[in-house]
Amino acid sequence: MGCDIVLVPKVLIIDDEEDMCWALAKAMHQEGYDVSTATRGKEGLAIVQTENISLVLLDLKLPDIDGIELLKTIKNTQPQLPVIMVTGFGTLEIAISAIKEGASGYITKPFDIHELKLMVRRTLEINHLLQEVDFLRSELIKDYQDLAGISSPIRRIRQLMAKVAPTNATVLLTGESGTGKEVVAVGIHRLSPRRKNSFIPVHCPALPEHLFESELFGHEKGAFTGAAGRRMGRFELAHRGTLFLDEITEIPLSLQAKLLRAIEDKSFERLGSEKTVRVDTRIIAATNRDILKAVSEGKFREDLYYRLNVITIHLPPLRERREDIPVLSFHFLKKMTPTYRCSGISEEALALLRRYDWPGNVRELQNVIERALILCQDGEISAHHLPREITDHVYATGIPEPSSNKEFATGSLNEAEKRLIEKALTQTGGNRTKAAALLGITRSALLYRIHKYQL
Ligand SMILES: Nc1ncnc2c1ncn2[C@@H]1O[C@H](COP(=O)(O)OP(=O)(O)OP(=O)(O)O)[C@@H](O)[C@H]1O
Ligand SMILES: [Mg+2]
Repeated sequence: MGCDIVLVPKVLIIDDEEDMCWALAKAMHQEGYDVSTATRGKEGLAIVQTENISLVLLDLKLPDIDGIELLKTIKNTQPQLPVIMVTGFGTLEIAISAIKEGASGYITKPFDIHELKLMVRRTLEINHLLQEVDFLRSELIKDYQDLAGISSPIRRIRQLMAKVAPTNATVLLTGESGTGKEVVAVGIHRLSPRRKNSFIPVHCPALPEHLFESELFGHEKGAFTGAAGRRMGRFELAHRGTLFLDEITEIPLSLQAKLLRAIEDKSFERLGSEKTVRVDTRIIAATNRDILKAVSEGKFREDLYYRLNVITIHLPPLRERREDIPVLSFHFLKKMTPTYRCSGISEEALALLRRYDWPGNVRELQNVIERALILCQDGEISAHHLPREITDHVYATGIPEPSSNKEFATGSLNEAEKRLIEKALTQTGGNRTKAAALLGITRSALLYRIHKYQL
């Protein structure tokens, strides 16, 4: 779905009365649609399965199959295909059961042809919009790759995600900026039975206080100046799906009680309305702030905190799980290589990446890889494709300069040399001349090394 390009919609008419078929076909042609017709149910079903049909006009009374049965079969094989039932006088009950089985609408004979045309056009428009929403939703979710990483905290988080996803439990995600909280939120939604419905994010700091309530809970026409029509809030948009409250500590204190009730009772009132709206919405909240501090400062309600804190998942900063750095680097490299041609990352560059502290966490790493890919065009990402702050920072922290495999060799050689000198000095009671002789080096060479290793 979503990728078929249907330029001219094709309407299938299934009706056993040939005159009716002909009249409907003519009306549909006048509207500019392509038309197929069938006077038998089985024949109609065959057309549905082989041709690219956009809408079906289905007579309720057919000689070979019951109209409702045919509707069920069509909906089973092609749930997205809209079907309008054409019913005779006095069959309202059956028409209603058709709607329950998934028919988009019904029209009773004898009908006004203009009314039918309008109904068909509306149904096609709505169906087009539904497909677009489906497509956009899948694009949005697709953009979020799985949570990559091999460190034990990330592995544990992946297990936890799988465990909480099928439940309706509220999840609180904590961790510094750029650690992957949104990746986890989307991941939980994707792993859950709610995946077919919406994942609605609310970035709390982006909403001005006076609009917060109506954004979250919706409003009725005229609820406040500028409220032109009734509008659904994000809580309602996330019905049967997941509401992601990002930066939850930024939610105005004045709204926290209403939010608490909405989470506990799954119900609330739209702004300017007395009517209670009931929803089935799963809540995932995130924060990169110290939420307990906000509680102790009175900026965040304690009861709301406990309500959100049913399951907490903490994402550690990247510098505390350095083994993820190479994995994530290659993950982003692979993801972005269709755009840039680049074959890999040099040992030296990788060593630099591994040593940097990443104040911006995974987001910063992703940006650094993308920038390096732009600079290197093709070939390998090497140290000089990395930003100065990374190279400068790493060298300034006094860690031995990494340069490919030599780094390890020098490291261990130095270590061995240092230990030998220490041994010689202890054996000779600190006499440098004797120690130098023992080691088979000149006295000045020994002094240089004592200084170098600060012995
Ligand atoms: N483990 C991971 N695997 C793959 N991509 C990741 C991972 N962690 C983070 N990312 C990527 O890094 C970027 C930042 O992640 P995300 O938006 O989830 O961070 P955040 O914790 O929500 O940050 P903030 O607090 O600033 O909102 C995103 O582009 C995301 O795709
Ligand atoms: Mg985020």
